[in-house]
Order: sequence, then structure tokens, then C-alpha cells
Amino acid sequence: MRKFIFVLVLCVVVVGAAYTVRQHAHPAATSTHSNTPVMAAKNTDGFNKQAYSTTDPTSIWVIANKQHALHPKDYVPKDLVIPDVPLRVPGNESMQVRQVTATAMEEMFAGAKKDGIELMLSSGYRSYTYQVNLYNGYVAAQGQATADTQSARPGYSEHQTGLAADVEPVSKNCEVESCFGDTPEGKWVAANAYKYGFIVRYPTGDEAVTGYEPEPWHIRYIGTTLSNELHRTHTATLEQFFSVKGGTVYN
Ligand code: DAL
Ligand code: ZN
Repeated sequence: MRKFIFVLVLCVVVVGAAYTVRQHAHPAATSTHSNTPVMAAKNTDGFNKQAYSTTDPTSIWVIANKQHALHPKDYVPKDLVIPDVPLRVPGNESMQVRQVTATAMEEMFAGAKKDGIELMLSSGYRSYTYQVNLYNGYVAAQGQATADTQSARPGYSEHQTGLAADVEPVSKNCEVESCFGDTPEGKWVAANAYKYGFIVRYPTGDEAVTGYEPEPWHIRYIGTTLSNELHRTHTATLEQFFSVKGGTVYN
């Protein structure tokens, strides 16, 4: 069902939007904002949890969940590019991610390939309007209660930050299905994403924290400083690490 909705919405967006590919359209617009540390005292354990904002949508540590909408809700990143990786839907707006995400993704997919794992970008940046169509598709097919466990409402999706991506095998085996976690590709992502600055954002067992069913295909760029620290401390979610509210209920 999830795949059906995904493909359905993709068709609507591809046909309806007549989107013009904007590959490398903003080479000079690379945001320095997210790389600007927020000045604050360091934590006593030596890791500075205030190094980057968790509320600024341009920050690589921004947290979007049901308690924290993006501000503004129609935020658009300024440095979207198309990563040099296999693309599920070339030409679609969702084949873009932010420049930092693209660089890390290219390194990650290359690293995977060395291990015999071939990954493809399934869905990266999604605009507010794209998310409206996607979310409404889920609601129409399954009702709002179920939709809310699988799809973020518009303005609440980290896909809109350009820092999140759904990945799948080039073979399309188990694409955006929970069985992806059991594929060699899914297992590789779970074990190795952190080395490239990504986390699997919606882990099994943390549904009450993240507000979503497990999504082994959904990775989120946070930079290696933080991804290594989460790995070192066995912390599964951004909400737990930063003591930020999450959960299944919208604010
Ligand atoms: N599927 C994730 C939660 C999203 O819609 O952003
Ligand atoms: Zn996703």
C-alpha cells in the first residue's frame, strides 16, 4: 500500500508539475548558515550539543517532528542540487537534496558499491506542496490516523529540509517497504550510514519517540560529528539525544 501511494503521488507530481530540472542551478547559493556554530557553553561531557541549532531549518541538526514544525512551514533550502548517484525518477524535484547531503550521499553510495551494495535515491527533497499531495494520498487511501503513522503533514517533514532521503536497492527490491531492512542493502545502510554523517531516522522500537512506523530506508544527514556521537553513545533518535519533545501527537 505504501508503495502504491508513493508511486501514485509520484505520477501526479511528475505529470502535473512539469518540473524543470534545476541541477546545479544555485552553485553560488550554498548556505553558510547551517555551518555557523551557535555560540554556547560546551556540555560537561565534552560534546557541544549547542554547536548547531535544532530549530533553524537551515541547520544540519534541525529537528522536524510532530511537536516541531519547520519555521517557516513553506521553507525551501537555497542550495538544492542533484547528487551524482543512481536516481529513481530523474528530473523530478525529489531527486534533489542539499549540497552537504549530496556530497555525503555520493561518498556513502560509493562506499556501498565497494562492498557490492548498489543503492539508489528514491526520494530526497520534497517541497511543501509535494508533501501536501503525498500526505493527502495517504489519507485518502488509509484514513488520517494510519496516514499520520507513515507520512508527515506538510510543513513537518524533514524531507523538506533537503537533509533527508529515502534510499532503495538499484534492483528496487523492497522499495519503501519494511522488508528493505532485511535486504543486504538495508542491512548495509543500518550498519554504515553513520560513517557518512547519516542516521536511520525512524528506527524499530522508537515509534513512540519519533511518531512514525519504522522506516529503514529513510536516512537523515546530520554530519559525522553528531552521527559518530550517536553511534558511540548508542542513541537511536535525535529527540533522545537533544531531550527534545517528539511523539505521535501533533502540537
Ligand atoms: N515518511 C516521513 C515521516 C515523512 O513523510 O517525512
Ligand atoms: Zn523518507
